[in-house]
Amino acid sequence: MRLREWDPRTAPQAELESWLRAYNDALSADLPDDPPWGIDRLRDYLTVTMPGERRLTWLAEDDASPGEVRGYGRMLMMSGLGVLELYVAPPARRRGVGKALLAAMADRAVVEGFTALGIEVGGGTAAAEFYPAQGFSHVYTETRSILDLSTVEWPHVAEMAAGVVHGYRIEYYPGDLPDDLLAAYAEAKQVRRHDPESDLDLRPSSYDAERLRSSLRCLQARGLKPYIVVAVHERTATVAGLTELVVPAQHPTRADQYDTTIVPEHNGYGLARAIKARMLLELRTAESQLRDVQTWHAAEREQLQQVNKELGFRPDREWREYEVDARDLAARLHAG
Ligand SMILES: CC(C)(COP(=O)(O)OP(=O)(O)OC[C@H]1O[C@@H](n2cnc3c(N)ncnc32)[C@H](O)[C@@H]1OP(=O)(O)O)[C@@H](O)C(=O)NCCC(=O)NCCS
Repeated sequence: MRLREWDPRTAPQAELESWLRAYNDALSADLPDDPPWGIDRLRDYLTVTMPGERRLTWLAEDDASPGEVRGYGRMLMMSGLGVLELYVAPPARRRGVGKALLAAMADRAVVEGFTALGIEVGGGTAAAEFYPAQGFSHVYTETRSILDLSTVEWPHVAEMAAGVVHGYRIEYYPGDLPDDLLAAYAEAKQVRRHDPESDLDLRPSSYDAERLRSSLRCLQARGLKPYIVVAVHERTATVAGLTELVVPAQHPTRADQYDTTIVPEHNGYGLARAIKARMLLELRTAESQLRDVQTWHAAEREQLQQVNKELGFRPDREWREYEVDARDLAARLHAG
C-alpha cells in the first residue's frame, strides 16, 4: 500500500472517480441505507474551504493497481483543531491502512502546531471500535434522525406551518440571505455560541455577519445549496428563530438539516414547529427529488426532538465524537 498527499483541486478526473468508488464502498459497508454519492460538484466539495481554513488529503493506493484508491484521510484545519475524516474501502480493512493514514495526519498536525484532533462517526460501526483503540476519548454523543418524506402527513405539516402566533412573521430564503437580514440573523445565532450542550463545533456555524456571508458562499461553492427559514419578531425587527438546511449536489436525494435556534425570549410560542414545518413544505416543491432529511441533535435538546417527532423524524443511530491530543497520538502511532 502506498500513501501520498493528494490535491483534489488539480487531480485528474479518473482519480476523483476512484476516490468516489472507495467512498461509496465504505459507505455501503457502514451505513448501507445512506444514499451513494455522485460525481456532480465533487471536486468543489473536496476542495473549497472557509477563508482561513485548509483541508489536506492523503490517499492510500494499492501497489498492485496504482491509481485505485483504497482509503483516504482528510484533515480540515480550523483554529487549533484538526477535524478528521478517514475511510478505508472494505476489502483493504484490518491491514493497517487506517492507522497509516491516521499517522500521516497526526504528524502533519504536530508540524503545523495543532493540538487537538476530532472526528465524528456512526455508532455501531468499525470506526467506533477503531478510534478508542487508537487512544481517542469519546467526548460527545448525538442522535441522527431521518425523516422519510414518503411518510410525511402533509396536511398536518401545513397546519403546523400555519400556526404562527400574532407578532411574528415567517420568511423563506432559498439559496442565500438578503444583506439587510445578515446582522439580525447572526445575532440570533449568537445564542448557541455558549450553549453548554453544544458539541465540538465540527459542523459549520457562523456568529457574525461577515463570517455568515462567507459561510453561505462556502456552502454554495461546495455544491451545498442552503435553505433558510426565519421567524421575524415584527415589533423589534429581530430574528427570533431560524432553521438551516442544505441540499448537497453530491447526494441530492438526502438533505442535511443544520442548525435550528430559537432565541430564548421567544421560546414557548411554537416557532420551532412553524419554521421547520414551513421548510418541509417549501422543499417539497423546490427539491422534488428529495427522499429524506437527516438531522443530528443532542439528547438534551428535548423541545427540538419533540418537534422532529411530530414532523415524522425517526431516530436512526447514535453519532459519536472522539477527540485526541495530536502529539500523544503521533507518539503512540510511531511507538507501536
Ligand atoms: C475505521 C477504519 C478507518 C479503520 O480502518 P482499517 O484500515 O481497517 O484500520 P486498521 O487496520 O489500521 O486497524 C487498526 C486497529 O483498529 C482496531 N479496529 C479497526 N477496525 C476494527 C473493527 N472493525 N473492530 C474492532 N477493532 C477494529 C483494531 O485494534 C485494529 O488493529 P488489529 O487489526 O491489529 O486488531 C475503517 O473501518 C473505515 O473506513 N470505517 C468507516 C469510516 C467512517 O468514518 N465511516 C463513516 C461514518 S460511520
